[in-house]
Amino acid sequence: MSTAYLDNNATTKVDPQVVEAMLPFFTEQFGNASSIHEFGAQVTGALRKARKQVQTLLGAEFDHEIVFTSGGTESDSTAILSAMECLPDRDEIVTSKVEHPAILSVCQHLEKIGRAKVHYIGVDSFGRLDLEAFRAALSPRVALVTLMWANNETGTIFPIEGLADLAKEVGALFHTDAVQAVGKVPISLKDSSIDMLSLSGHKLHGPKGVGALYVKRGSRFKPLLRGGHQERGRRAGTENAPGIVALGLACELAGQHMAEENTRVKALRDKLEKGVLAAVPNCFANGDPHDRLPNTANIAFEYVEGEAILLHLNRAGIAASSGSACTSGSLEPSHVLRAMNIPFTAAHGSIRFSLSRDTVEEEVERVIQVLPGIIEKLRALSPFWAGAQKEARDFKPVYA
Ligand SMILES: Cc1ncc(COP(=O)(O)O)c(C=O)c1O
Repeated sequence: MSTAYLDNNATTKVDPQVVEAMLPFFTEQFGNASSIHEFGAQVTGALRKARKQVQTLLGAEFDHEIVFTSGGTESDSTAILSAMECLPDRDEIVTSKVEHPAILSVCQHLEKIGRAKVHYIGVDSFGRLDLEAFRAALSPRVALVTLMWANNETGTIFPIEGLADLAKEVGALFHTDAVQAVGKVPISLKDSSIDMLSLSGHKLHGPKGVGALYVKRGSRFKPLLRGGHQERGRRAGTENAPGIVALGLACELAGQHMAEENTRVKALRDKLEKGVLAAVPNCFANGDPHDRLPNTANIAFEYVEGEAILLHLNRAGIAASSGSACTSGSLEPSHVLRAMNIPFTAAHGSIRFSLSRDTVEEEVERVIQVLPGIIEKLRALSPFWAGAQKEARDFKPVYA
């Protein structure tokens, strides 16, 4: 029995076609794109094709709006630091409490060195952005608004295009961390107010260590890495040709599979969620029931320890996650679930199941079959469960 891999928001398996496409760039086509000779020309052509493939998936107007990077983290850092350098007279940033650490830690650093005041906008118990607080934070002092397109833990989708329009009204630059959204939801940047967008190869069946930052033509921009003239001077360093070729094809394939993501994968996710909610008492789904990534289910099991659930699932041949991969191993409940005000007793026992086009029905059925027994066993050992008041056990969030 192979392990059911249900942790695709942490990383995805590289598509075999993608592996095949990148291999020649380690062997025969090993050239440096900056070289004048034939070896360089081969790579230059391949990079051009990859840039077009990424442009197409994002619905961007020009291929040169795509800047290749080493992944989501570099794209996020570049976007934030660029905005602060481009708008030196502005000293505020607007972001949310539920962003990935790749955004939050850069914002916290800018606060610490006194460069920016940061507004961390809250969310409701479904992870939806507090629009009133967002509007109130916008002013001509804001250099950058940076908000994620879709949340990596709950899958909740923010109404990004509308939020970007509001940011434009005060002359702020707008960046979105779309690492979890690209390839799962349709994106069309051409007519949007979005200045910058981050994406990462390994979340869409491409390799790790490669990604891109979209920078709208005409938007102000300063590079993070300086050196050679690669990427039109916007990101120095010899291009990661195998990775970029792989990212290009991964984006093309993601475009082809998008419909499947929203039908077959979504149906499997719904089956998993409904099956578990029906079979296990005192559990509920985290995240927006409507505006949510089609592959993500985050389920809170009250009065049980998430890490213990994961260990038992692992033994039963199921790989899942108790939040973002970066925080697993820590006993602190996730900052995303805390921002959503999920009761401590439920946030601690929240498990994320994230599917992909590789997921098959048998894997979902295995979860539905083994999870009720695991939870029952763990609750029998839990002093919290034994001592829980009936009203607390009956807690259910209300969707307004
Ligand atoms: C929302 C989000 N942003 C950024 C990142 C970081 O991307 P990378 O691993 O490519 O640096 C991740 C990865 O987990 C993510 O989920």
